[in-house]
Amino acid sequence: MKVDVLLGLQWGDEGKGKIVDVLTPNYDIISRFQGGPNAGHTLEFNNIKHVLHTIPSGVFRENKMNVIGNGVVLDPAVFKKEIESLSKIGFDIKKNLLISKKAHLILPTHRLLDAASENAKGDTKIGSTLKGIAPAYRDKIGREGLRVGDLLENFEEKYFQRKTQHLLMLDIFYNYDYTSQLEEYEKEWFEGIEVMKQFRFIDSENYLNNELKNGQSVIAEGAQGTMLDIEFGSYPYVTSSNTICAGACTGLGISPKNIGEVFGIFKAYCTRVGSGPFPTEQENNTGQKLRDKGNEYGSTTGRPRRCGWLDMVALNYSIMINGVSSLIMMKTDVLDDFDSIKICTGYRINGEITRELPYELNNKIEPVYEELPGWKKDLTGITSESEFPDELKNYIKYIEEKTSVPIKIVSVGPNRQQTIIR
Ligand code: GDP
Ligand code: IMO
Ligand code: MG
Repeated sequence: MKVDVLLGLQWGDEGKGKIVDVLTPNYDIISRFQGGPNAGHTLEFNNIKHVLHTIPSGVFRENKMNVIGNGVVLDPAVFKKEIESLSKIGFDIKKNLLISKKAHLILPTHRLLDAASENAKGDTKIGSTLKGIAPAYRDKIGREGLRVGDLLENFEEKYFQRKTQHLLMLDIFYNYDYTSQLEEYEKEWFEGIEVMKQFRFIDSENYLNNELKNGQSVIAEGAQGTMLDIEFGSYPYVTSSNTICAGACTGLGISPKNIGEVFGIFKAYCTRVGSGPFPTEQENNTGQKLRDKGNEYGSTTGRPRRCGWLDMVALNYSIMINGVSSLIMMKTDVLDDFDSIKICTGYRINGEITRELPYELNNKIEPVYEELPGWKKDLTGITSESEFPDELKNYIKYIEEKTSVPIKIVSVGPNRQQTIIR
């Protein structure tokens, strides 16, 4: 068997959690391969609305195994809160969640360093979720990180070495006052470790490859989106991991030969949370209308998301980088009330139009739009493709032609059931 990958093609929050939950019945194992608690993946079913941060979105289905892969950075304090909120709604996942020993830990001091670094940046803030992502990945790449497997031996000694170095950085480099936060962060972090120890720590690369050989099916769940990828996103306004398909290979220990279907998920328009370039952003009534109708507020931080029209230049770039084989279009219903819908098909830069993503997404870019008629119909109650209005069929056909990739799923609302599979 091969591993199917589902990943975001824009700036995150495309609706990955919802669709992984919808697709889970087709798979035996659901695995996260990168990112950490910066992610917020929302699922809605049976009047339950739930946001997951580190835990894969397969946990609500019975008899499925969920794996936190080696590429993930894990904060025990956040993990504990997630486990507690799942348990409050009746889900005990001790038997169906496995954690890679090679996943790196986010320490309390990583969170402080994230805040200190953002403070020091002034106007050039990344708009980080302040979950300690960049400092944790920095320690990983700097070969100084602590891993889940370290919890099994001499852990306290290793922890205090790292903490001491981090506190020196906070004092000397950032002059950052952490006294009011550190104690509380550490308390919840050590409590989190005790919760983590109730789960099985495994060599997930061996587990996954063995299960594939045994004929089990696996879906890899991406976090963030391609435009936030450390290599190919709008650097430096990105996250610190490989959000792209190749990240599933390194973040799970899967050979490129064993990648199957690549599901690329995108909103029928665009959003971005945090700083950084966004060529099709609408800082006007249109943007506000998208935000209101789409309830565009961050699942992790609650920040209002910036909103704009669909950007085909960025979308085609993401499709290319990931080798997307099927597209999934989300939040189609949010466009229900528009007389006409704009799609950006190129960037005009210094008078010339390009359809390729340039090195820098700066304010010299002027998006070139085509305009398609809106459908002006409530899509949220429809249950089959035969009910699609002609204008929506046209919108879908237009995107399929411009991308040369079929749109296999159209989402028309946040609920599991509001999903049309074509
Ligand atoms: P993720 O990070 O990619 O999992 O996405 P988020 O959960 O952060 O954000 C997607 C938001 O849109 C969530 O609030 C979902 O409940 C909601 N959502 C998902 N699909 C649809 C849809 O088709 N229509 C509408 N209106 N909302 C959706
Ligand atoms: P999901 O998985 C949207 C953004 C932050 C910031 C930048 C760097 O829910 O789609 P970080 O905390 O990673 O150092 O922040 O990346 N960001 C996200 N935006 N969805 C996410 O995850 C995000 N995770 C990080 O807003 O601009
Ligand atoms: Mg999200």
